[in-house]
Amino acid sequence: MRILVTGGCGFIGNHVVRNGLLIPGVESIINLDALTYSGHAENLNDIDDERYTFVYGSINDFDLVSKILNDHQIDVILHLAAESHVDRSINSVQPFIETNIDGTRVLLESVLASKQKGHIVHFVNVSTDEVYGSLGPDDEPFTEDTPLNPKNPYAASKAAADMLVQSFVNTHELSAITTRCSNNYGPRQFPEKLIPLMTLNALNDKMLPIYGDGKQIRDWIHVDDHANGILCAMLALFVGKIETGEVFNFGANNEQQNITIVRSILSQTNANESLMEHVNDRPGHDRRYAMGYEKASRVLGWKPEIDWATGLSETIEWYRINTAWTDSITSGQYKEYIRTQYGHLAK
Ligand code: NAD
Ligand code: TYD
Repeated sequence: MRILVTGGCGFIGNHVVRNGLLIPGVESIINLDALTYSGHAENLNDIDDERYTFVYGSINDFDLVSKILNDHQIDVILHLAAESHVDRSINSVQPFIETNIDGTRVLLESVLASKQKGHIVHFVNVSTDEVYGSLGPDDEPFTEDTPLNPKNPYAASKAAADMLVQSFVNTHELSAITTRCSNNYGPRQFPEKLIPLMTLNALNDKMLPIYGDGKQIRDWIHVDDHANGILCAMLALFVGKIETGEVFNFGANNEQQNITIVRSILSQTNANESLMEHVNDRPGHDRRYAMGYEKASRVLGWKPEIDWATGLSETIEWYRINTAWTDSITSGQYKEYIRTQYGHLAK
């Protein structure tokens, strides 16, 4: 199997590449990444495997995507490239429309063009629980049948991409599925998201900004569990065990309030509780997400394996030890260096 991962230099993408290389029968993994602020070639610098190739470029570039599909005779695309942060989408929607919606459109059109030439490329669209909107305190977790009801521009852009994928399945009979997952945590997450941000701030004696009352709930899953779920779905699609157009939810049955997580981080980093600061709430802040994953368990044989207490403490420890990672990914000079190193690979 020859795989194209989009956004492999991002948080979840690098775990998908790492775990994908462990699967017998995987002949090659091409990683197409535009190295935006959240993508770092360094996230995969330690991979020493001739089956792995990094291509610096954008999913919005139809010619480049088509060339990769053709040159590498790609069998399946794992599509993770995205603008992924809700707060940024509130400040500026345009990059979310361009990458999440139009970028997905370009990939789908490239897959369609390949199909018209007799080359089938399967497509796994990686999406989020946020497309379902927000749950009340007593609501049942989301299922694959929950209607889409996105509440912020990031979620709306992901929902639009999901609908576009379904429309290509219906109209052009592409082989495509969508996976939706709850909040991920683990190593190499850009420190704008809750867990790495709070951990690094606690370790560096900086304030920990808690939006509103901090009682919002997310269903936290370890990134390795999510990566393995995506790979399970990919294999099932590839061997024809599941139908085109299917949706799979991944979660961890692990609902936590933000404030509880922050207190735990403070305690595990020996930081002072006085660093916690309640700040203005995020506009339109979703109160609660929880994912039912019965279908993924039943059909794919997948379940989350990593226990929250262990996963969180190992993650905190990872950020404590890997200071060179934090320094390099937040340094503009590093990004410039990578662009110089890899720029020739674009196109
Ligand atoms: P991330 O922001 O860490 O990584 C995104 C990656 O995409 C980066 O490497 C970036 O350089 C790349 N990218 C952005 N625009 C690109 C373009 N035009 N062409 C090529 N590459 C481009 O995001 P993440 O947290 O790893 O999320 C990956 C996917 O998983 C996203 O689709 C996101 O919506 C979804 N998801 C994330 C979570 C989560 O908790 N982080 C949960 C569920 C679903
Ligand atoms: P985040 O990691 O941005 O993920 P998402 O918005 O996709 O769920 O945020 C997780 C939760 O943490 C969310 O309820 C917002 C909250 N949060 C804070 O309270 N303070 C912060 O500085 C950040 C980044 C998030």
